[in-house]
Amino acid sequence: MKEFATLIIDGKEMKLPVITGTEGEKAIDIRSLRQETGFITYDPGFANTGSCKSKITFMNGEKGVLRYRGIPIEQLAEKSSFVETSYLLINGHLPTQEELTRNSIMLNDQSMVHEDMQIFFQNFPRLSHPMGILSAMVNALRSFYPELITTEEEFQKVFIRMLSKVRTMAAMSYKISRGHKVIYPRADYTYCANFLNMMFDSPVNPYQIDYEIVKALNTFWILHADHEQNCSTSAVKTVGSSRANIYASVSAGIAALWGPLHGGANQAVIEMLTDIHKKGGGIKEVVEKAKNKRSSFRLMGFGHRVYKTYDPRAKIMKKICDKVLPKLKIDDPLLDIAKQLEEVALNDQYFIDKYLYPNVDFYSGILLRAMGIPTNMFPVMFAIGRLPGWIAQWKEHMDDKEQKIVRPRQIYMGKNKISYTPISKRDSSSADTESDD
Ligand code: CMC
Repeated sequence: MKEFATLIIDGKEMKLPVITGTEGEKAIDIRSLRQETGFITYDPGFANTGSCKSKITFMNGEKGVLRYRGIPIEQLAEKSSFVETSYLLINGHLPTQEELTRNSIMLNDQSMVHEDMQIFFQNFPRLSHPMGILSAMVNALRSFYPELITTEEEFQKVFIRMLSKVRTMAAMSYKISRGHKVIYPRADYTYCANFLNMMFDSPVNPYQIDYEIVKALNTFWILHADHEQNCSTSAVKTVGSSRANIYASVSAGIAALWGPLHGGANQAVIEMLTDIHKKGGGIKEVVEKAKNKRSSFRLMGFGHRVYKTYDPRAKIMKKICDKVLPKLKIDDPLLDIAKQLEEVALNDQYFIDKYLYPNVDFYSGILLRAMGIPTNMFPVMFAIGRLPGWIAQWKEHMDDKEQKIVRPRQIYMGKNKISYTPISKRDSSSADTESDD
């Protein structure tokens, strides 16, 4: 039976259809609201607004649940690989052995970056942030691959191209920023092993693949692979909704992810923990500063728009740190500081009242440090992981007949109509007061 919500505006009753998701989430369909009543809704940050119907990722923020295509994140983190999870997100099902093999061959074929692109890389100023470089270079890919996506096969090719080349480009930008020789991808390495080799191999110091690190990197990227309608994914879809090409759309996603409230938080957490370490204490002071409304400082790696409990990804990330660091014989003082900080914050009334818990970024930087990844590359690591999610969501958006160009409304609070004042007649007291109405 169809369900409706009743809205009374100016004494008139309006019945709005209710949409129920497969996990029981309810939404009020307000598409006819403005046309029938002249009213719009007001929802800054779209915290209460569903922008689409999606079959990709399910989150329950109150219970700390995250599933990709129905499969719990805990199972994927334990049993899957990043390449397999990417396939799942894009295609909606786990691949057969044959599909996975075909996928790996395509990833290998697409792994090289056009040599002409190296010139671009080399001309960025040395201190450029790798996220800025990556965003620009992904946009530039369009000039090298101008074909449009008109078939499913072409879409799969573009997806594989992006997944493979962005990883190569990320490692290249690191090598070039250090003034070192670029290391090319190898056909005999898996996706994650290849990335580590491109990052750390050098003619004078051959890199030994450590399969403990490869496994940890797979899990890291699986945990980041999608998170439904987050800021960067919404940026990708917003740009895509104007029918801009997929490279421009993903480039916008990278730019959005760069911010410290989003994917830049993993870098900001390590900077915060390092600062505490350097000062030799001060955990309580940091927590107090985060609570102080006169300061813009926030406890980085804490809080989430959707999760009102412990982020399930943060739980897994913390466990991996506890497992991998001792195996790599790394004793990172920042891990102890993070645990102490978590304990203080979780017992503080401010954080309890606002349901602020560690998010995925709180422990991820510690794992990346243990792998040898430099701090300014942390958001790039997030971006590589989020690629399958961005592309799956972009595709779903393009295929959804109910979608339109993204174009929110506003409530105008500015001046009423006034006349143009010639410059000779302008003075500071009159400029704001004249009105035609
Ligand atoms: N430290 C101190 N106070 C906080 C924090 C924090 N980390 N996060 C939220 N608050 C407070 C905030 O000041 C507000 O207080 P009040 O109601 O008194 O004004 C209240 O909690 C609600 O915060 P909000 O900003 O309205 O919540 P939001 O859903 O808009 O923001 C967030 C979510 C993730 C941007 C925010 O929690 C934050 O800035 N966290 C720190 C940055 C961070 O770790 N980002 C990574 C997010 S997870 C990975 C990803 O998506 O990229």
